[in-house]
Amino acid sequence: MPRIFITGSTDGLGRAAAGALMGEGHDVVLHARTRERAAALSDLARDAAGVVIGDLASAAQTRELARQVNQIGRMDAVIHNAGVYLEPSRATTADGHAKTLAVNTLAPYLLTALIFRPDRLIYLSSGLHHAAAGSLRDIDWTRRSWNAAQAYSESKLQVIALALTLARVWPDVLSNAVDPGWVPTKMGGPHATGDLEKGYLTQTWLAVSNDAAATVSGGYWYHRQRQAPAPQARDPAFQDQLMGQLAALTGVALF
Ligand SMILES: NC(=O)c1ccc[n+]([C@@H]2O[C@H](COP(=O)([O-])OP(=O)(O)OC[C@H]3O[C@@H](n4cnc5c(N)ncnc54)[C@H](OP(=O)(O)O)[C@@H]3O)[C@@H](O)[C@H]2O)c1
Repeated sequence: MPRIFITGSTDGLGRAAAGALMGEGHDVVLHARTRERAAALSDLARDAAGVVIGDLASAAQTRELARQVNQIGRMDAVIHNAGVYLEPSRATTADGHAKTLAVNTLAPYLLTALIFRPDRLIYLSSGLHHAAAGSLRDIDWTRRSWNAAQAYSESKLQVIALALTLARVWPDVLSNAVDPGWVPTKMGGPHATGDLEKGYLTQTWLAVSNDAAATVSGGYWYHRQRQAPAPQARDPAFQDQLMGQLAALTGVALF
């Protein structure tokens, strides 16, 4: 049975994906931000392949999280699901980064670099990435006035670019990005009009299915259909420039 690690599995889409995969008998490694938040996993933890703890806003804790995952063993798939949405301010992390960039972009980048390479990688993005201007001039928001929606959109463009870079340079790995739609979670809010189940079944399918349609790389998906992401996400020059910046900001080179 495949073993899958899902970041941010205490709530929302990550928790729902974990429950669905465990219900199918897969081995799932769960993740909580803190020991206190791990209490939200008490019902799932007993049948899980492990529970790992770490705040993705912290580079040190993200590195420690990767160590905990590697200690359990190699994953067949990793779903980079955890994310934050409209942060009221830059909310500078202990490492000096904008929290949105740290959690949504730097953490998946670091975990990708530090976790033993799985067969499949899935990154949760958003249709809102289309609203990103796509400039890489100030991705850590040190010179611009804070704009929460813009920061979120940019981070979601960046994770698609990361997914598609990996598809390009790691031919032995299936790497894809997913837009779950606007769905009623803590992040999506109670008025979200999307179907919660459809919001997580694409990433579980990409993680474990052997269907020909699911065993592809370099896709940007919505409800199991491939969509066209913003052009920059597919642009090798944009991708390379972004990877260079992420390597500089984290001190870890992926390639
Ligand atoms: N819901 C939507 O409408 C929607 C639309 C498009 C894209 N997405 C994307 O889908 C993914 C999941 O969203 P969701 O709606 O399920 O969100 P959610 O209900 O807010 O859950 C987010 C998960 O990420 C975890 N998390 C947040 N910050 C963290 C940190 N610093 N360290 C570790 N874990 C952290 C949360 O932990 P805590 O429970 O401890 O906070 C929670 O488990 C996100 O990447 C989001 O951008 C969602």
